[in-house]
This record gives sequence, structure tokens and C-alpha cells, in this order.
Amino acid sequence: VLQPEPLEEIEKLLRPYGPALPVAELVEEINRLFHDVHAADYDTVHPEIFAQLPSLWAEMTELAMANLAGSRLRVLDFGAGTGFASEQILRHVPSEYIERLTCYDLSEKMLAVCRSKIDRLFPSASYCANFEVLNSNPSSGPYNVLLTNSVLHHLADPVGAIEKLHPVLSAGAVWLAGHEPSSRFFANEECRKHFERFKWTKLLVPRNYLEKLRPLVKPTGYEGVAAAATSNGMFRRMPPGRVISRLVDLRVAYSAQEAAAGFGMDFEKLAVDFAETWQLKWVRTYSFMGDIYESNVPSIVRRRCREVELKFPRDGSNFCAVWTRATQKILLGPEEGPTH
Ligand SMILES: C[S@@+](CC[C@H](N)C(=O)[O-])C[C@H]1O[C@@H](n2cnc3c(N)ncnc32)[C@H](O)[C@@H]1O
Repeated sequence: VLQPEPLEEIEKLLRPYGPALPVAELVEEINRLFHDVHAADYDTVHPEIFAQLPSLWAEMTELAMANLAGSRLRVLDFGAGTGFASEQILRHVPSEYIERLTCYDLSEKMLAVCRSKIDRLFPSASYCANFEVLNSNPSSGPYNVLLTNSVLHHLADPVGAIEKLHPVLSAGAVWLAGHEPSSRFFANEECRKHFERFKWTKLLVPRNYLEKLRPLVKPTGYEGVAAAATSNGMFRRMPPGRVISRLVDLRVAYSAQEAAAGFGMDFEKLAVDFAETWQLKWVRTYSFMGDIYESNVPSIVRRRCREVELKFPRDGSNFCAVWTRATQKILLGPEEGPTH
């Protein structure tokens, strides 16, 4: 085992509230409830995605096109949300090169917003909120492009979730995995010290005070989700909002201690977990102010972030990656083995 499993920590955290479901199922149900509540304002609450990611997605899309060597794209956007990743692909690839686009998400409300945006760009896209339907073999051939953006950290078992998609992915599929939190930042002592030294400087940026006030004007939704989940029978006692927040962003490490406890994601460890199934072809890390969005610290601190980045280009606190299906290994049975 490369790193401790955060699910054990989560089980301990949940015990006082009498969860009625195993952790993995609870994580899925809470994510569904939470994203249903946030579908309408998701795009306005996450400006960092729209600011940081389009250039990275342009680069990733180019890699996918090179890898597919002229084949038309059959795209599956897993955890499509409001359609950000699909939009990026549609911006860079002319529609005639796209044979099929399916947006899958467990939140019907997120998918409804997705449809309202993607239908205009690619009218034949389909939308699916049912994993069994998604995972039944498509008649027109398996998907050759898998998209995920900011999804893996919501999953109880990210590796297992991707592997469950294998039946609908082609042997030469490319996987563009955008914007996941990386535990490598807090695991790196120098990055950590830089964060500890400068985190207070967010107090110098007035916009951050408005952010702090936002929940007073418009509740974060965690308490509402806690109440809904409890009245649906998922808990015997209503958990506080912070427990719901932990279940939603299950694999995010917010500190060195959490990174050490197994929260967070590390592309090097994922590459080991995926060794038999996916090869890591390309990776970029960014965000050198931990969980504080770099735009929310003064420019002088951002310059220090660039120095840290130059020194540790693989240890930013977010990452994007491109993976391709590992070449199938041909397993020889004893009677088929080499003869001497
Ligand atoms: C942070 S949002 C990102 C959405 C979109 N990919 C984007 O980049 O804007 C995460 C999305 O993953 C979905 N999600 C969470 N757990 C999931 C699961 N187990 N299966 C499918 N989708 C899931 C949520 O409903 C939500 O729409």
C-alpha cells in the first residue's frame, strides 16, 4: 500500500452520526445531493476553473488528437457537471471530427445545466445519469476519448471508477484528466513552508473578505444537504456541515497532516495504481499557494510562487494529466509458452 486510505478516517468521523450506508455509497449519495443543490450557481462559484484551465485543455486536446491519428472522436465526459470539459473539446475540435459525445453525471441537475450549454454547440450530444445505462455497450463502438475534470477527488475509489469504464472504452483510448487537487504540494516541505509563511497575505486582498461573507448571504449548502440526508434516513443524527464538506471533497488534502493521512491525490501514485491499465503521458502542475487560489494573494507573493514552481514543477497543488490505455499485455498460457 503506497499511502494510507482516507476512508478509515472518514468512517471514524462518521461514527457519531450513525451512517446508514457504507462510506462509498454515502459519498456518492452526498455528492449527488450537494451537486443538485449547486448546479445553478456552480459556474459562478468556480471562476478558477475558467481562468486557469482553458490553455491546459487546449494542450491536452492537441495531445489527444495527435494520439488518435485522424480517427473521429467518440467522447465520454465522466462527471461532466455543467459541461466544462466537453466545452473545451468542442472549442478546439471541429464538430465533423466528433462522432459522438456523451455527458455522464450522477447529478440530474448538473446535467440539465450541461445540456442547456452543450446542445447549442453539439446538438447530437447525449446525457446520462445512470451508470448501468452508460456501461451497457454502445452500438456505435467504444469511446476513444475519456474526459474528467475536477471529478476524481469526489470519488471513494477513483482507480476503481475509471476501471469500471473499461468495457466502454477502446483499447487505444486517451484519457484527459483535468484539474485535480495534488497532495504533493503539502507533502513537499519547502512548498509547505512557503504556504505557512505567506497564507496570511490573503487578508491583504479585499475580495477575500467578500468571499468570507458569501455564506452569510447565500448558505454554502452543506447544512441543507446534512438536513436532507438525515431526513432521507442516511444518518441517525444530523452531521454538521463540515462532515458533509469532507464527504463531498473526499480526497482533498488541506494540510500536511491530511496529506500524510492519505487525503489528496498524487499522479505518481496513481501511475503505479494504473500500471497495468493506463500510461501517464503528460502532466502539468500549478497552484503554488496550496488551497488558496493564487489570484487571491498579492502579486509579490505570486512572484514567490513562481520561484517555488521553478524549483518544484511537479508539486503544484493542482494537476492535469493525459493518460493512454496501456498496451495490452499478451498473456501466454503454459501450453502456449515459448518452446525450447
Ligand atoms: C466539481 S464538479 C466538476 C464538473 C465538471 N467536470 C467541471 O469541470 O466543471 C464534480 C462533478 O462530478 C460529479 N460526480 C461526483 N461523484 C460522481 C460519481 N461517482 N459519478 C459521476 N459523477 C460524479 C458531480 O455531480 C459533479 O457534477
